Formats: sequence, structure tokens, C-alpha cells
Amino acid sequence: MVKLSLRLMANTDDNILKKVIAHAKEYGFVFPSSEIYDGLAAAYDYGQNGVELKNNIKEYWWKFMTRSHDNIVGIDASIFMHPTTWKASGHVDAFNDPLIDNKDSKKRYRADVLIEDAVAKIEDKIKKEVDKAAKRFGETFDAEMYLTTNPRVVEYQKKIDDINTRMKDAIEKPDLEALRQLIIDLEIADPISGSRNWTDVRQFNLMFSTELGSVAGDASKIYLRPETAQGIFVNFLNVQKTGRMKIPFGIAQIGKAFRNEIIARQFIFRMREFEQMEMQFFVKPGEEMKWYEFWKEKRMKWHKALGLGEENYRFHDHLNLAHYANAACDIQFNFPMGFKELEGIHSRTDFDLKSHEEFSGKKLQYFDTEENKSYIPYVVETSIGLDRMFLAVLSSAYTEEKLEDGSERTVLKIPAALAPNKVAILPLIKKDGLPEKSMEIMNDLKLDFNCYYEDKDTIGKRYRRMDAIGTPFCVTVDHQTMEDNTVTLRDRDTMQQERVSISSLKNRLADSCSLSALIKKIE
Ligand code: GAP
Repeated sequence: MVKLSLRLMANTDDNILKKVIAHAKEYGFVFPSSEIYDGLAAAYDYGQNGVELKNNIKEYWWKFMTRSHDNIVGIDASIFMHPTTWKASGHVDAFNDPLIDNKDSKKRYRADVLIEDAVAKIEDKIKKEVDKAAKRFGETFDAEMYLTTNPRVVEYQKKIDDINTRMKDAIEKPDLEALRQLIIDLEIADPISGSRNWTDVRQFNLMFSTELGSVAGDASKIYLRPETAQGIFVNFLNVQKTGRMKIPFGIAQIGKAFRNEIIARQFIFRMREFEQMEMQFFVKPGEEMKWYEFWKEKRMKWHKALGLGEENYRFHDHLNLAHYANAACDIQFNFPMGFKELEGIHSRTDFDLKSHEEFSGKKLQYFDTEENKSYIPYVVETSIGLDRMFLAVLSSAYTEEKLEDGSERTVLKIPAALAPNKVAILPLIKKDGLPEKSMEIMNDLKLDFNCYYEDKDTIGKRYRRMDAIGTPFCVTVDHQTMEDNTVTLRDRDTMQQERVSISSLKNRLADSCSLSALIKKIE
């Protein structure tokens, strides 16, 4: 069988993202929000297949974090929190993006993102030089040596370092004029109009606010939470005391977060309403770097166990540490738009608990019985965007294949444990008792596995539809089934079919689609 994956067939990455968006809509994964009113920018609805995939991703995360780790428990805090929470967390004063407008296109950009894109272009140049040299020198090629000695590469790297230093300085101060000057010096042009006619850089707070109750005014102003983490911090002692938790321990949470993002493009990658899966791990002060390394490794293993391609992940250390962190990195994924942040791992020190203690006047300390003293724990956080994880799975699963007979198929090679439907039950024809037999099989399976029943169109067309929504198995019920209780079981990825007994189906599906088995592999 000749197969060509989409990444080979398609000419641009932009093309791939467009295809993924169109496919997600056509097959009930993701719809634009309130589409009948022409949609709402950066808000999306998950359809009948999307919600199943999303729930499976959540379960994969939740089971791994809370069941594989005896010292991690979950909570579900409210979205609205006392407004002082956001003063204490630093979000009222410091949760800002530096914005710049292009005077010709009237488009608005994040100044730091424009600069990071310019850096990414130079990084690409380095990669090209390395790839060229690797080809030229073959097995004797020493990439590390080449990176430190080749004059052109060294020059590119120096340029990157200079830009990063200037950006870090400007953001930390903050010096908005210096940030603008960097954009001018790098000759960054508007990606749409090509113009370099930029406004000044301004700060813009990303929190959405609304009013509590019927009284307007500052006193009733509350915010939609921009991260789920603060719900964990304010409940730290509640959970520690009621759960008799001993340090080190973690609190996990999945929930909605809201940010008034300025550049909300790239589909569900950057939304104004999105979901986070966060875990705060409370540790003894001084031990935070050990746990930071521990969680970096654990989280990377969780990602790689899915089999989306080891080469599609990398760590990216933060140059500009947030006000609360003493170390931070991203796990980046190779999205259709290139390597971008999928998950953040942050060593948040005791910043949050200390600050809540100051603002609330309540003690938020842990009494360590081994050391016989109280202290404010340090925190290592893992924070992943559920919607970004969804996009990572969907975009890497999307495959267009040319088959040997010249036909083409589009298949979502979603890891079986995450697939929205595990099995489709298909009667070969719509008579002779085959539909009834199919329903019997479905009724036996459907409480354990999400099943799909379909009896319209030819079997070939039905297989293609199941490929398009990523169903790992198709069970076909034919006349032989009526005689010997066997069915054909078709594998989505290989398209191979085998004859199996109906009684073996449960075990076959459990072996291939089990989240628990996937999680067990991670250790
Ligand atoms: N509590 C720490 C925190 O919120 P963050 O890096 O701002 O850290 C964590 O966000 C994760 O949330 C990101 O790695 C990303 O996956 C996701 N995320 C952030 N903003 C998002 C947005 N506008 N749309 C979708 N996902 C987003």
C-alpha cells in the first residue's frame, strides 16, 4: 500500500491548519461559537465528536495526575473569586501584554510576539545551515562542534542572544519605548501589509471584568479567573487540613479560564475562553528545583506516551521569568504553525501563598511534624491548556493517504485510547436480521466503549466516514455472523480485516483502547 501523509502532500503549514479547521467543523469536532450570528472571535464550541475527545484527554490527564500519584488530590473551585485574589496574585497590576498597532493595516500585535517571531526566523536559518552540513559531512558530522565554531552560525546565535537580552531588559523594566525601538531596529514588518509604520507600545490588561449583583461601581467589580491556579492556592489549607496531606503533595484542577487575548488567531490555540488542567505541587522550601526537574520529566513522559511523535516535543526555557517564578519552561509541540507552547512548568516559589497571607491576613502555613516548625511551602506548577492539547492531538492525527488503488482517504489517527468512538458496528446490509444482530452487539458493548451504529450507504463509504472521525475499529456484521457468531474487525490505520468471534470483542477493544494501560506505560 502506498501511503503519503499530509505533511508530505501539502505545500504549506498554513494549508494544514486550514484543512484541520475545515475537517474539525465538517465532522463535528469544533464549530465557531454562535455561528448563525457569524461567530464570535476566539470562541469555539465542541461538537459531538469534539466533546468526547476532549473528555478523554481530561480523563487521561486526571487519571495520571491523581491516580498514579497517591499524594495528589483534585478540587473544583468556582470561576468567580473574591476580587482581592487578583490583587494578591499580581494579575490586577501585572497581567499585561505589550501591544503595538500597525498604522497602515490597523492590525494589533503583541510586541514580544513580533520579536519572538523574528528570533524564530533566525533559528530557522541556523537549522538550515546545520541540516546542510549534516548532509555534507555524513556520519562524521558533530553538530555541537559545528554550532560553536561555524562563523555564520555563531554570528546568527550572537544576534539571537543580543535580541533576547534587549527584549528581557525592556520587558522587565518595563521600558515600552525600548521594546518599540527593538522592533524598528530589527526591521520587523507587519506580516499582513508589509509596512513598518508602527505606533507606540502600550500595556493592556488581559482580565475580563464584570459586576457582582445589581450595584454598579468599583466595589462590585469582579473578574473572570484568568488561570485556575488561584482557586488552588486559596484552598491550600482547606485541602491540606481536611485531607491530612503531608508535604510534598499536589492539588489538581481542570476548569475554564478567560483572557481578553489581543491576537486571538490560530483556531483553538489562543482563545478568550479556554480550559486549563493545572496542578500545584507543594514542597519544602529549598527542594523546589528537585521537584521542578521531576515534573519536567514526568510531564514530558505523559506527552510522549501518546505516540504523537517524539520529535514533535521540545523544552523551551523562559527568558523572561514571570513575577512569581524562579525557574520556568514550556513543553512546546510542533503544531501546524511550528513549535509553540503546549504546557508550562513553573517553580512559583512561595509567592502566591505569601501574598494571599498578606492580603487576607490569614495564616497559610504548613506545620511540618518532622522538622517541628511551620513554613509557607514552595510550589511547582504544571499547567496545560486542554484546547491546545486537543489541537496537538487533532493536527498530528490528521492524515491524507493515497492508496495503492489510486483512491485517497482522510483519516484521523487519534491514539485509540483518546478516540471519540472506539468502535463502529456496521451491518453489511439493512435486512436479513443483520441490523438487529448489530444492535445486540452494540448493546453489549456500549456501556464500556463509546460505539457508533450506521447502516446507510455502502460499507466502503461507511469505513471512510469512520476513518474521518478517527474510529479505531469497525465491526462488520454479515450473513456468516448469523451462522457462527463471528464478525470482521477492521483496523483504522492498517485497514486490515480479520474474522473474530463476537465474544472476543470486549477484550480486543479493552486491550487497544485502555487509558489505564497507556498510563501504566508512563512509569
Ligand atoms: N497558572 C499558570 C498559567 O496560567 P500560562 O502559561 O499563562 O500559565 C498555561 O498558561 C497554559 O494554558 C499554556 O501553556 C496554554 O496551554 C494554556 N493557555 C494559555 N492561554 C491560552 C489561551 N488564550 N487559549 C488557549 N490556551 C491557553
